[in-house]
Amino acid sequence: MTQGPALSPLFCGFDDSADQTRFLAAAWGSSARAAGTLPSVCIAGAHRFPDGEVRVRLDLEGQKNKRAVICRSLDRPDGKLIELLFAASALRDQGVEKIALVAPYLAYMRQDTAFRPGEAVSQKVMAGLLEGAFDGLVTVDPHLHRVARLEEVFQRMETGCLSAAGSLADLLRKENVSPDTLLLGPDAESIHQIGAVAKAAGLGAVTAIKERRGDRQVAISLPDPGQFRDRPVILVDDVISTGQTLIACAEAALKAGAKSVDAYAVHALYPAQVGKAFTKAGIGRVKSCDGVPHPSNAAPLAPLLAEGLTALAEFNRP
Ligand code: R5P
Repeated sequence: MTQGPALSPLFCGFDDSADQTRFLAAAWGSSARAAGTLPSVCIAGAHRFPDGEVRVRLDLEGQKNKRAVICRSLDRPDGKLIELLFAASALRDQGVEKIALVAPYLAYMRQDTAFRPGEAVSQKVMAGLLEGAFDGLVTVDPHLHRVARLEEVFQRMETGCLSAAGSLADLLRKENVSPDTLLLGPDAESIHQIGAVAKAAGLGAVTAIKERRGDRQVAISLPDPGQFRDRPVILVDDVISTGQTLIACAEAALKAGAKSVDAYAVHALYPAQVGKAFTKAGIGRVKSCDGVPHPSNAAPLAPLLAEGLTALAEFNRP
């Protein structure tokens, strides 16, 4: 562990989030609040026993720090969740008083109601678990539906709900995409995000009509197919999971005469074989923000996450 002055919180991560944790600590270190101090970084050890249980160790080596940040995305969340709870407990046992979780991708936000009798409302359960262990939460473009705001989900904990629209727009600008490029969002819900990206990047944007018929079955229709003819199209979405949404969008856009189709997303959760299916569907490049470590990562989120952390008033109060 590298030692830093007490002003900054201690930045903790796990092996799978070690780079993100260091980038976040560096971004925090260069913020005005840190006043040029170099934050300490500590990576937790997680040992899996043969029976599947886990032991988590976060040794602060006697360092006295009252505030800590744990940085880890909650994709593939089930194993990570228990490790996070253990890590938070280990920090408290060593005298840490306030802990913020920076989870660029936050799992289980979709299920905000019992659609059929007997279904657990996973969003509510997540809120209870995280509020019991942390004092603050920062995340990016959470997958919210009927409950529109993160503060409504986490009513007992300070939250920072960030949008990666600026990061995606920066990427588009850096890549000098053609000015006649049309951004395509998969459904009406994507209008806020795609509208913000389009405005910041100075491009046109439309949304499709999406019908999800099953976990891996998606139907897409385009409201005005004529506008796609001979134009480069960039699909923009918050999450890529099975990839079926992007594949259906690409097929519809190419059928409508699009010159090319590329895709940009905030959180890339898809496995390698889906990349091959994208190529087969005619999708060129696929780029994502680096909140979830993935080969498609191209847009850094650390500066945005550091800003979100800085804005947590209670967490930052000395
Ligand atoms: C839906 O609400 C989201 O915005 C994404 O379109 C969706 O999660 C993508 O999932 P998949 O890649 O499995 O189609």
